[in-house]
Amino acid sequence: MWNPFANMATTAGHTVTMVSGEGSTVYDATGRSYLDAIASLWYVNVGYGRAELAEAASAQMHKLACYQAFEVFSSEPAEALAQRVAAIVPIADAKVFFTPGGGSDAVDTAAKIARAYWRAVGQPGKQVIIARSHAYHGMNAYGTSLGGIPANTDPFGPLVTLVEHVLWDDASALAKVIEQVGADRVGAFFCEPVIGAGGVYFPPEGYLAEVQQICRDNNVLFVADEVITGFGRTGEWFGSIRYGLEPDMMTVAKGLTSGYLPLGAVIAGPRVTEPFWREGSTEVFRHGYTYSAHPAACAVGLANLDIIEREQLVPRVRELEPALAHALAPLAGHELVSQVRTGAGLLGAVELSAAAREADPGIGARVVAAARRRGVITRLLRGVALQISPPFVITPAELHQISEVFAAALDAELS
Ligand SMILES: Cc1ncc(COP(=O)(O)O)c(C=O)c1O
Repeated sequence: MWNPFANMATTAGHTVTMVSGEGSTVYDATGRSYLDAIASLWYVNVGYGRAELAEAASAQMHKLACYQAFEVFSSEPAEALAQRVAAIVPIADAKVFFTPGGGSDAVDTAAKIARAYWRAVGQPGKQVIIARSHAYHGMNAYGTSLGGIPANTDPFGPLVTLVEHVLWDDASALAKVIEQVGADRVGAFFCEPVIGAGGVYFPPEGYLAEVQQICRDNNVLFVADEVITGFGRTGEWFGSIRYGLEPDMMTVAKGLTSGYLPLGAVIAGPRVTEPFWREGSTEVFRHGYTYSAHPAACAVGLANLDIIEREQLVPRVRELEPALAHALAPLAGHELVSQVRTGAGLLGAVELSAAAREADPGIGARVVAAARRRGVITRLLRGVALQISPPFVITPAELHQISEVFAAALDAELS
């Protein structure tokens, strides 16, 4: 097996093989347990060991394991899940285009919808898409090009070229680039309500409302990449609700099924759907994947939403928000830490100081390994910050345990 994002020269023969999980804890093949501070990759929101989700998949697979969704076909769980998602998003009369592989497929699909939309409404010149520094929009070709983390893009050279980048926290930079490129050439702006893989950066006060307005003023589609922030992570159903946004499109994945089966979606508002759905339109969005709207994945999505609603997990995330900030606060005083970031839901980061990283570039990887030896899984974001994005079922005591283990892993560097 060739692992994603791994140096196989050092990883081969040393993988940590996971075998089971319960709540916020996973167990490896040697029987060791780990508190999963990152919910796998930001997604096991309802926690591990949910038999209900396995049963939903099983029941659907016994009935109709799979069927395609091209052209006229669909399935009962796909239709039901589309209705259910459309009812909770902050977009009136939304349509849901399911993608099979997760967020990367959703991002590439949204980018293609944006470009097809401008052609359909007679402005085919509006093909440039703008994204931000520190952005992560998945690893398909479009998402890689939209990404703002140089280590992820540099090895591949130019992929999609009609892309521009702006500073992640400066709304005026967006206005300036639109002016430079020309509003008649810019089709969309993609942004994560909270930047995730780039290091967990919360938006500066007013930033998101301002960029949304700049997009409106310049006739540019505003696309919220909610692959991490969707389905409760910020303490509201969507980051767009938390920050008072009404995007033209949203991309989602991860928390849609809590990762029990892979599934993503683009959620598009009436402005975007109109040329394709309007009575008499001959427009066809010629895009889709073999496993788009996979019935078993959609059945899991429905059962996952049942759990989130029944157990009131979104308000629980909101309640745990101060507990997370409280638990991590002591780390801000650590000699190797420059910043602790919390502020919305169960999302946080502990940034290692630039001095420590420059003095010893291996420090981050060692701290991650030391935390794992002490029973807590985290990872290093963009080479600078430790990630915290636990399952929504985590307890305040477990949040403190994460913080204590981080402190011990950092202290080990000083001894
Ligand atoms: C904001 C965002 N968009 C897109 C993606 C890509 O999702 P996936 O890895 O499921 O393809 C991710 C993954 O972490 C993400 O955080």
